[in-house]
Amino acid sequence: MIHGDAREALRRLPASSVHLAVTSPPYNLRIPYAGYSDDRAHVEYLAWLRSVWGDLLRVLVPGGRFALNVAPTSIKAFRPIHHELTADLRDLGFIMRTEVIWYKQTMGRRTAWGSWRSPSNPHIIPSWEYVLIFSKGQWNLPGRKEDIDVTSEEFQKISDGFWQIPPERSRRGHPAPFPEELIERLVKFYSYRGNTVLDMFGGTGTVAVVARRLGRHYLNVDASQEYCDLALRRITSTATVAGATTIPPPRLVEIEPTS
Ligand SMILES: C[S@@+](CC[C@H](N)C(=O)[O-])C[C@H]1O[C@@H](n2cnc3c(N)ncnc32)[C@H](O)[C@@H]1O
Repeated sequence: MIHGDAREALRRLPASSVHLAVTSPPYNLRIPYAGYSDDRAHVEYLAWLRSVWGDLLRVLVPGGRFALNVAPTSIKAFRPIHHELTADLRDLGFIMRTEVIWYKQTMGRRTAWGSWRSPSNPHIIPSWEYVLIFSKGQWNLPGRKEDIDVTSEEFQKISDGFWQIPPERSRRGHPAPFPEELIERLVKFYSYRGNTVLDMFGGTGTVAVVARRLGRHYLNVDASQEYCDLALRRITSTATVAGATTIPPPRLVEIEPTS
């Protein structure tokens, strides 16, 4: 567990040490995170994330995967940010493998229709998010057969890229936590037991919780002390499933900015 800045943390990790990164970065939508201003100039925001991706590329093993969750932006401030991030990642050398549609089934809560029953200005409001999947340098990730834990049924279900998973209901004081099922699918499909899984914008630690439970090593980074404390409690109280090598409890490391 690392309390500090994502870039600083990535720069301290050894090259080729992470098999799977799963993250959902701040979206620059003025979301009220504890201790972080989610409101930068768009160009500056993209440049910042680009430098995070650059550092991530170094720490991934050859064939290591990166699953990036991005939500469509709001109606008024619509920007195809998933296209922008995809272009940046491909430009940096990541291989794009696919995109998953995470359908959140939230249509019942719609209120903003634009112009009701009129073509003058109707809105389509996304009830989905994307999970964009990339790999480093090559398609395959070597591993042992006995470290595979995805079942045939799960494999079949997951490889259909339309995932119907409701949003997380227990927010635990965080504005945007992942539902555990989303992460379980990614971890089982894209990594082996014993691999190392990273979230450099870890929030409440959902990726680490699932990774530990499924017998993967984990690295959870967040700039907020409050979220790190919360994640630490969650991860500590998570046990590894039977049959997998027990993954040790977390240790919190503080890092200071170098510049
Ligand atoms: C979309 S949330 C991630 C939520 C997480 N997926 C979960 O399940 O709880 C983004 C997180 O990035 C963190 N953050 C913002 N700037 C950061 C930075 N420079 N370095 C590391 N974390 C940062 C915020 O504190 C926030 O918790």
